[in-house]
Amino acid sequence: MAADMREVDGVIRERLASDVVMINQIAHYIISAGGKRIRPLLVLLFANALGFGGRERFELAATVEFIHTATLLHDDVVDESALRRGRQTANALFGNAASVLVGDFVYSRAFQMMVSVNKMRVLEVLADATNVIAEGEVLQLMNMHDPDLSVDDYLRVIRYKTAKLFEASARIGAVLADADGEVEESCAAYGRSLGTAFQLVDDLLDYEGATEQLGKNVGDDLREGKPTLPLLLAMERGSADERNLIRHAIEHGEVARLPDIVEIVRNTGALAATREAARAEADKAAQALQVLPPSTYREALLELCFRSVERSS
Ligand code: IPE
Ligand code: IPE
Ligand code: MG
Ligand code: MG
Repeated sequence: MAADMREVDGVIRERLASDVVMINQIAHYIISAGGKRIRPLLVLLFANALGFGGRERFELAATVEFIHTATLLHDDVVDESALRRGRQTANALFGNAASVLVGDFVYSRAFQMMVSVNKMRVLEVLADATNVIAEGEVLQLMNMHDPDLSVDDYLRVIRYKTAKLFEASARIGAVLADADGEVEESCAAYGRSLGTAFQLVDDLLDYEGATEQLGKNVGDDLREGKPTLPLLLAMERGSADERNLIRHAIEHGEVARLPDIVEIVRNTGALAATREAARAEADKAAQALQVLPPSTYREALLELCFRSVERSS
């Protein structure tokens, strides 16, 4: 997909331009740091797998990356994060106000781009997705410091804040190709499951990962008192003392106890169980691919399922 991804890169660079110096500076700062570019890849792989070869695919691939980038600019402010893609976050370097406002620029630029392909269904899919992402981030804010959060409520947050954009990206590929409703739904189901697996692993890596590889600070979730699946499962499985330690850490955002908590999530099998949950979602995603005709693109989508579960960056 290297050639296609270069095209997307070209659109990204072109569309980021603004007369306002600070916008250029900050937007380029975060975009040039790279990132895995998984969401645009989904648009392209599904469009290609379904036989769509038009240039609109590059425009919409760049659009979903812009939506993603805008949510990251806002998310790092909300999460008070200091490191992203191996660099200082935009909020750490330029301040919260600039990050929020440039995030709004990137977000609204994404809307200008999606209009340019002149397809109502595309607007519908992406307008819904952005709205649900916002709901997910707000829901999560409401759940902060709550050690009694249910696993179902946790799953709802990650479906909204992360899986929804994966779902929309996959669906857009199908919409571009004018796929029939059943095929479009299977593509969407793939994205939803892959995105869920992806966020489960993200939450796992906050305990098990290495800052260098991740390009993000490990332990951020605990510092914020975010009740993610590794902690919820460890509380279910641990001793009364272990449970109390984790409850207290969630309630007070006690990152000082991170080493003890890493021990507990590991020893109780909570980390392994989180990875297992991610694997189950990735398997569901793989099943959904049966609707596609065989091709190298379908193979790549299948490989993405396994890599998303095993990833360490
Ligand atoms: C980070 O997404 C936010 C989550 C949904 C976990 P990515 O891990 O795709 O971020 P980049 O684009 O590769 O930096
Ligand atoms: C990212 O959530 C989801 C969105 C940006 C909508 P997180 O806060 O869990 O992701 P990271 O760890 O900062 O990348
Ligand atoms: Mg964050
Ligand atoms: Mg967040």
